[in-house]
Amino acid sequence: MRIAVLIDLMSEDPGHHDPVAEQVAAALRDGEHEPVIIGVWRDLKRVIDDLKAAQPDLVFNLCESFGDALFGAVGIVGVLDLLGLRYTGGGPGEFYMQQDKALTKKLLAFDKIKYPEFAVFSQDSDFETGGNLRMPLFVKPLRQDASIGIGANALVDNFRDMMKRIIAIHDKINDAALVEEYIDGREIYVGVLGNAMPTALPPIEIDFSGFPEGTPKIMSSKAKWNKRSAEYKGTNSVIADLPDELKARVQKVALDAYRALRVRDYGRVDMRLTPSGDIYVLEVNASCYLERDSEFAHSAKVVGMSYVQLVNEIVDLAVERHGIRDAS
Ligand SMILES: Nc1ncnc2c1ncn2[C@@H]1O[C@H](COP(=O)(O)OP(=O)(O)O)[C@@H](O)[C@H]1O
Ligand SMILES: [Mg+2]
Repeated sequence: MRIAVLIDLMSEDPGHHDPVAEQVAAALRDGEHEPVIIGVWRDLKRVIDDLKAAQPDLVFNLCESFGDALFGAVGIVGVLDLLGLRYTGGGPGEFYMQQDKALTKKLLAFDKIKYPEFAVFSQDSDFETGGNLRMPLFVKPLRQDASIGIGANALVDNFRDMMKRIIAIHDKINDAALVEEYIDGREIYVGVLGNAMPTALPPIEIDFSGFPEGTPKIMSSKAKWNKRSAEYKGTNSVIADLPDELKARVQKVALDAYRALRVRDYGRVDMRLTPSGDIYVLEVNASCYLERDSEFAHSAKVVGMSYVQLVNEIVDLAVERHGIRDAS
């Protein structure tokens, strides 16, 4: 198949994007497909022209933004729909629900999946809360990902610091603020693959044991992206060592959350596990980060699925879902 790998650019330079696009393209080539990378940068006409020129049988969608637009990723898949293209991962409706972490909680609630109690502080309306929240609290943007706006000061133990963080998120990130009860526990990620019958991959745990003393053990933006920081160096993702019963429960919660949020093809559920065995879902990452060294790719490897197999399995899932038959 001819597959367009769609990726957001970090500047106008068409080569300036996350290395994941080349990795996925190489894996597709190994799967006998014909990939072409299309970069997306603030010019919708160019995206449409490039897609039309490529005439792909399928779009492998790695695009997470469009300029500064809050719902850029939602808009891009909307465009793919309007162009009549088939693509991996969710559509605009799914992405909208998954991106808004409060809406996610409301959907989880219906299936009785636990999540941290929360309140939303919007810029332009009254705050919304289900009840009293207990300190310490965690303040983060409502609709960002990649730990944007999340540093050590996200964890607060008094009203003044909470308000400071809320205002900073309004002013600097231009998003509503989500205030959650802080869940002190192990950080667990579960990758899920599939549609009608999704399967959960082995749980991955973030090992914070090398974290700098006195810094809250959270996946801040430093811990995720700043390779020179003590937080980055102090974290390590490992296969979670869980007793069978607990592992099965964690995977069940991940599958329930994946279904509740209507994730398509693949995704990763971020959770926290308390010492008393309660499992809280922090968020559901539909079409999660697919870099070769990502937690998702690691957990696939544990069940014997190579990176090439993983990427091509996602293609097969999308093909099956779209009912593309004679695609070659
Ligand atoms: N309620 C919470 N309790 C404890 N830690 C949290 C909570 N919310 C977020 N975190 C920490 O912040 C990190 C990023 O939060 P998350 O909601 O996953 O946002 P992102 O979409 O940016 O990944 C989590 O991986 C976790 O370490
Ligand atoms: Mg996360």
